[in-house]
Amino acid sequence: MKLIHSAAALSVFSCVAAAGWEFVEKGTSGVVGMEAIIVSPTLAIFLDRAGNDNPLTINGHSAWGSLFDLETNQAMPLDVVSNTFCASGALLSNGTMVSVGGHPRPANGAPGEEGRMGLRLFEPCNTPDGAGCTLFDSPPVLHLAETRWYPSTVRIFDGSLMIVGGMHVATFFYNTDPANSIEFFPSKDGGVPRQSPFLARTVPANLFPRTFALPDGKVFMVANNQSVMYDIEAKTETMLPDLPNGVRATNPFDGSATLLPLSPPLYIPEVLVCGGAIVSDQTPSVNLSSQDPASDQCSRITLTHEGIRRGWVVEKMPKGRMMPEMLLLPNGQVILVNGAHTGYTAIGSVGDPVWFNGSNADDPAFTPLLYTGGLPTTHIARMYHSSATLTPAGNILLAGSNPNLMVNHTTIFPTEYRVEHLNPPYMLLPRPELRNVPTRIAFDSKFSVQVNIPESLPRAASVKVALMDLGFSSHSYHSSSRLVWLEAQLSRDRRTLEISSPPNNRVYPPGPGYIFLNVGDAVSPGSRVMVGSGAAPPVADQGRNIQGMTMQGGTSSNKM
Ligand SMILES: *[C@@H]1O[C@H](CO)[C@@H](O)[C@H](O)[C@H]1NC(C)=O
Ligand SMILES: *[C@@H]1O[C@H](CO)[C@@H](O)[C@H](O)[C@H]1NC(C)=O
Ligand SMILES: *[C@@H]1O[C@H](CO)[C@@H](O)[C@H](O)[C@H]1NC(C)=O
Ligand SMILES: *[C@@H]1O[C@H](CO)[C@@H](O)[C@H](O)[C@H]1NC(C)=O
Ligand SMILES: *[C@@H]1O[C@H](CO)[C@@H](O)[C@H](O)[C@H]1NC(C)=O
Repeated sequence: MKLIHSAAALSVFSCVAAAGWEFVEKGTSGVVGMEAIIVSPTLAIFLDRAGNDNPLTINGHSAWGSLFDLETNQAMPLDVVSNTFCASGALLSNGTMVSVGGHPRPANGAPGEEGRMGLRLFEPCNTPDGAGCTLFDSPPVLHLAETRWYPSTVRIFDGSLMIVGGMHVATFFYNTDPANSIEFFPSKDGGVPRQSPFLARTVPANLFPRTFALPDGKVFMVANNQSVMYDIEAKTETMLPDLPNGVRATNPFDGSATLLPLSPPLYIPEVLVCGGAIVSDQTPSVNLSSQDPASDQCSRITLTHEGIRRGWVVEKMPKGRMMPEMLLLPNGQVILVNGAHTGYTAIGSVGDPVWFNGSNADDPAFTPLLYTGGLPTTHIARMYHSSATLTPAGNILLAGSNPNLMVNHTTIFPTEYRVEHLNPPYMLLPRPELRNVPTRIAFDSKFSVQVNIPESLPRAASVKVALMDLGFSSHSYHSSSRLVWLEAQLSRDRRTLEISSPPNNRVYPPGPGYIFLNVGDAVSPGSRVMVGSGAAPPVADQGRNIQGMTMQGGTSSNKM
């Protein structure tokens, strides 16, 4: 079934056969993989809550971070100092991974320092197995300006991170002590957070605001049932239409959202929001039920004057989804994995959780949803505190799930350490390959790569090149996830591809990315590149203006 049917979407949502998709178990994560990010071509990081009950240990105590080797499927403990429970993160323009925010110091003697002001750095790791690569986590030395549990982050046009919202204290369900402000890393404004009326309006269901860096440098945000355009340079918020039909899509009513693939020449941004709940945010949590159906609505908006006037266009999924993870594939498709069909996020706070201290959600979504339908089914429930990320190989890495306060192997929806791959059909087909890809590409430039295209692929097959940020997965939000289509010309002998880099640092915020080659339905493994100079943020504007878009300050007029 095809959910999206606008003319612009047809080229993006090309059809793949449902056959050939598969779930494969691949090792264990050692800690609950509630946050996941790819930090090198061979390594992912999983982050969890500080506690004393994970199988992986470090320095004589339970670990709450692991470095997962994508080649051997082994998890190694990572020495995390502060509590990363329900944090966010992203990569900077110089390739450093930053983990942001977290939870207070754990009770009952468990290890872990206060984590709510957490700013943890994992510098680019060049050893394939992670040897010698460590996390810098020193709260007295480096920390946020404000305490933040459940914040969002996004890499912006100058390569820094914008850090949005969250709450100050641990609450069980709603945001009752909000951090209604925005700050940056490295800091701007002398480190003073900017107050956000949008965040104030969207309390108490505005956790993990879904935040997207648009190709003109502005930021689009969805929280609760509202949306806003934020101009970082002018420091202005412009209210945009509410999500239709009473749908709320941020924590504790998590839907998921993504910026759809951006195409030259105009890179017109569109955002898709799927799932969440249709309920008043004034309902006491004990009056909600784990059996309440989740929203089956997908809402899509084109962020041009014209598109905003048209407002959200509504589509229906076959079944509602709470806390899905929405991911982009290198062929431009959108897939939803993980989550549940009924109930809410969090643990033990609705009137009838699945057990006294258990999941607020029920009816696990075992079958992913692709816009073309027909996917396999896993037997592993990935409820609250699970994650999913695209890998450099082009498949999806799934980890985590623990809708329980502690590690619990005996309950309904037990703590999950098994890691899975969800393999799209192209993983099993002959694959094109990219060779001699430069390690660094400047904006608005052309570069050549060698390609190896299997003889079996039809000569007439279309050739498309995707540049992707694989994102940081936490709580149905994939910080900085992005796909930009690059113009590319294949040589007559089909051995060389001349690729045009993104026109400027607003279309692709400077930093690491992966290039994938699509030849018809075949997809190459991704090759890592540094887009831009690789300098530490903030970096200056680079490249050329796109017609109809202003680069510095001014108002955007990216009309169709
Ligand atoms: C969004 O939520 C607010 C507060 O609950 C409500 O007043 C408003 O009507 C909602 N908007 C829509 C379009 O349902
Ligand atoms: C919540 O449930 C309680 C007990 O059943 C009931 O008295 C109360 O009116 C309900 N409140 C709302 C807002 O539904
Ligand atoms: C539920 O969680 C609370 C808070 O952690 C704890 O005190 C209590 O013992 C737990 N109850 C059960 C039945 O596990
Ligand atoms: C595990 O879950 C069961 C309920 O399914 C509960 O009785 C038990 O106390 C839990 N154990 C821990 C360690 O929370
Ligand atoms: C990247 O930039 C950040 C912010 O300035 C800095 O803390 C980090 O050490 C830098 N990493 C590298 C590899 O230069």
